[in-house]
Amino acid sequence: MATAGGGCVADPGSRSLLRLLSFCVLLAGLCEGNSVERKIYIPLNKTAPCVRLLNATHQIGCQSSISGDTGVIHVVEKEEDLQWVLTDGPNPPYVVLLEGTLFTRDVMEKLKGRSGRIAGLAVSLAKPSPASGFSPSVQCPNDGFGVYSNSYGSQFAHCRAFQWNKVGDGLAYEDFSFPIFLLEDENETNVIKQLDSRSFFWNVAPGAESAVASFITQLAAAEALQKAPDAATLPRNVMFVFFQGETFDYIGSSRMVYDMENGKFPVQLENIDSFVELGQVALRNSLELWMHTDPMSQKNETVLNQVEVLLSTLEQSGAGVPTVVLRRLNQSQPLPPSSLQRFLRARNVSGVVLADHSDSFHNLYYQSIYDTAENINVTYPAGQSPEEDLNFVTDTAKALAGVATVLARALYRLAGGASFNDTIQADPHTVTRLLYGFLVRANNSWFQSILRPDLRSYLGDGPLQHYIAVSSPTNATYVVQYALANLTGKVIDLTREQCQDPSQVPTENKDLYEYTWVQGPLNANETDRLPRCVRSTARLARALSPAFELKQWGSTEYSTWTESRWKDIRARIFLIASKELEFITLIVGFGILVFSLIVTYCINAKADVLFITPREPGSVSY
Ligand SMILES: *[C@@H]1O[C@H](CO)[C@@H](O)[C@H](O)[C@H]1NC(C)=O
Ligand SMILES: *[C@@H]1O[C@H](CO)[C@@H](O)[C@H](O)[C@H]1NC(C)=O
Ligand SMILES: *[C@@H]1O[C@H](CO)[C@@H](O)[C@H](O)[C@H]1NC(C)=O
Ligand SMILES: *[C@@H]1O[C@H](CO)[C@@H](O)[C@H](O)[C@H]1NC(C)=O
Ligand SMILES: *[C@@H]1O[C@H](CO)[C@@H](O)[C@H](O)[C@H]1NC(C)=O
Ligand SMILES: *[C@@H]1O[C@H](CO)[C@@H](O)[C@H](O)[C@H]1NC(C)=O
Ligand SMILES: *[C@@H]1O[C@H](CO)[C@@H](O)[C@H](O)[C@H]1NC(C)=O
Ligand SMILES: *[C@@H]1O[C@H](CO)[C@@H](O)[C@H](O)[C@H]1NC(C)=O
Ligand SMILES: *[C@@H]1O[C@H](CO)[C@@H](O)[C@H](O)[C@H]1NC(C)=O
Ligand SMILES: *[C@@H]1O[C@H](CO)[C@@H](O)[C@H](O)[C@H]1NC(C)=O
Ligand SMILES: *[C@@H]1O[C@H](CO)[C@@H](O)[C@H](O)[C@H]1NC(C)=O
Ligand SMILES: *[C@@H]1O[C@H](CO)[C@@H](O)[C@H](O)[C@H]1NC(C)=O
Repeated sequence: MATAGGGCVADPGSRSLLRLLSFCVLLAGLCEGNSVERKIYIPLNKTAPCVRLLNATHQIGCQSSISGDTGVIHVVEKEEDLQWVLTDGPNPPYVVLLEGTLFTRDVMEKLKGRSGRIAGLAVSLAKPSPASGFSPSVQCPNDGFGVYSNSYGSQFAHCRAFQWNKVGDGLAYEDFSFPIFLLEDENETNVIKQLDSRSFFWNVAPGAESAVASFITQLAAAEALQKAPDAATLPRNVMFVFFQGETFDYIGSSRMVYDMENGKFPVQLENIDSFVELGQVALRNSLELWMHTDPMSQKNETVLNQVEVLLSTLEQSGAGVPTVVLRRLNQSQPLPPSSLQRFLRARNVSGVVLADHSDSFHNLYYQSIYDTAENINVTYPAGQSPEEDLNFVTDTAKALAGVATVLARALYRLAGGASFNDTIQADPHTVTRLLYGFLVRANNSWFQSILRPDLRSYLGDGPLQHYIAVSSPTNATYVVQYALANLTGKVIDLTREQCQDPSQVPTENKDLYEYTWVQGPLNANETDRLPRCVRSTARLARALSPAFELKQWGSTEYSTWTESRWKDIRARIFLIASKELEFITLIVGFGILVFSLIVTYCINAKADVLFITPREPGSVSY
């Protein structure tokens, strides 16, 4: 427990020493201003702040005041410690260092109620993750932007059937008037707990969302399908789509539907034969994979029959994969939150959502900081090198590869393929390398080899964050694109210049393909890279919510979420002297001032005695 700014309390007898010290500090300040700053402030390097987000009607999240917030640090380890911050403590405002296990809606409501006494909040990660689950999302995610509403399928609207995210406490949709930081590094938490100090916060940044397991499975399925010898000649096309911003009222999928409706997308809505979506698939209890469908569209007999074909194709494909058992659900059960809902709003497509859960999510950490590699059992034996970890096939990778195999085989059949139904197989090595790259260490040899040279700094030593960026694609977006290009594309023999401008090469088609000059793997000496040209059909399309293009700022049809943040985001702590020491310093300083005034006066008065000059008396010289 630590309270109030301590520092040292000076003994009144040590005044002269103090005076000496203040001179020293002054001198040091003159010579090396920077280093004093460095000594006073300890920057907190691994923090993830929460940001202010706005939609048409609400503001959520948190924000510091423009010049930052300062307060006395108070560590809250048990609920009883809150008493001090909320009522008892004499020196508000406080910056609360909260144990991760206490970061719950209950506690936050209490803090919010006394926000005048709170200057900020730093939350340490709970280790291990809270056993009862933690999800700052709401119990009914994306409510109101899916297909069900009071006027259509009202019995399913607002999660009437059941709450998909049972543990959700809605914390992420609350509005706080003080900044909140997550301390990602245990050691930094310890630094604060030691120091008796104040905290000084600057502005804040976005949070992360993770849907990694499902897009990895999809990437592995794409690779498996691509390897089928007749993949290029199938009667129907298969398009793999990776949406971003879906948690914010389906930004990605609503944009695509909007573009399709307005003829701005190469594929029309009417051209969609079937829609297969992967929901959360990494936490399968036993072997079950549930097939969710929409009851409303199936009231139409045509659609009902199409969905039946879709489900039986999946079942046939699953029959050859012993690690996956496909299961149907009661036909009157609504869809979970999914991109398919946005397509159903526009057209009654036949579609299915595959998920590890039959009703509420199995994931206890939906959209929370604890939805990490450990949550889906991605762990590695101790003492392995990064390269060994990269290629170590985890059980999770095997399980996801099974799902990818089912998906790839089903897509193959749906696309009209027949000859290689049972030979298509997703590669667990691909899955494990993707899991490692996205969840453990992005800066690995494989990701480095598949990226453009100018993007290499996008790979940090930790997991890739899945920020929903306002302006530019995020790091993860590029990596997904280039992973897809690597897995489904082809290395072609072009020079760097030709690769960057393939229109000069008669055999290549710039409209049909995307050409990328990638870094390539290290050579045998590990001194240089072997760059190469990769041709693929992987493309990136901007997904700005249509609400902004239509200037419908109050839209209830399209997402209106925006993010507000200042340019710089950081937090730092510094030591400050106690009130007593400040008072003594002031008194001593004042004493010195009075003393010097007296001395000056005396010298001045006796100047004619002290400095004998030929001048006229009365003309004062300094
Ligand atoms: C904005 O977000 C709040 C909080 O989630 C929600 O209650 C409200 O309906 C949203 N407004 C619109 C127009 O979507
Ligand atoms: C924390 O400090 C310990 C001991 O100094 C060190 O071994 C450990 O790697 C540090 N942890 C992190 C996450 O930096
Ligand atoms: C943050 O990094 C700086 C420079 O590397 C270091 O001096 C400082 O101690 C770090 N902060 C903490 C809390 O470890
Ligand atoms: C994860 O590992 C734990 C402990 O080994 C096990 O009980 C659990 O079933 C595993 N979960 C999955 C989804 O494999
Ligand atoms: C059922 O759906 C089909 C195809 O989407 C459409 O052509 C047909 O008109 C629909 N039938 C009814 C009764 O709405
Ligand atoms: C499906 O659910 C409905 C309503 O919840 C129920 O009446 C019906 O008996 C269920 N059907 C099956 C086959 O379980
Ligand atoms: C889908 O089908 C249902 C039931 O037939 C119908 O009420 C609804 O309007 C259709 N949706 C679209 C977008 O056509
Ligand atoms: C492959 O799938 C197609 C379509 O489902 C089916 O007609 C065909 O018999 C299957 N072939 C084999 C060898 O299973
Ligand atoms: C990635 O790792 C390599 C060594 O494997 C290192 O040289 C490079 O600086 C790292 N990049 C980043 C952005 O950390
Ligand atoms: C994302 O890319 C930026 C720009 O190169 C880099 O500074 C940042 O560390 C990357 N973030 C992660 C989480 O790797
Ligand atoms: C994908 O990456 C692997 C490993 O670096 C490499 O062997 C392969 O040639 C790459 N494929 C393409 C199409 O870039
Ligand atoms: C390895 O390095 C040596 C000396 O630096 C060079 O002569 C040789 O060609 C290199 N080999 C390869 C495969 O790059």
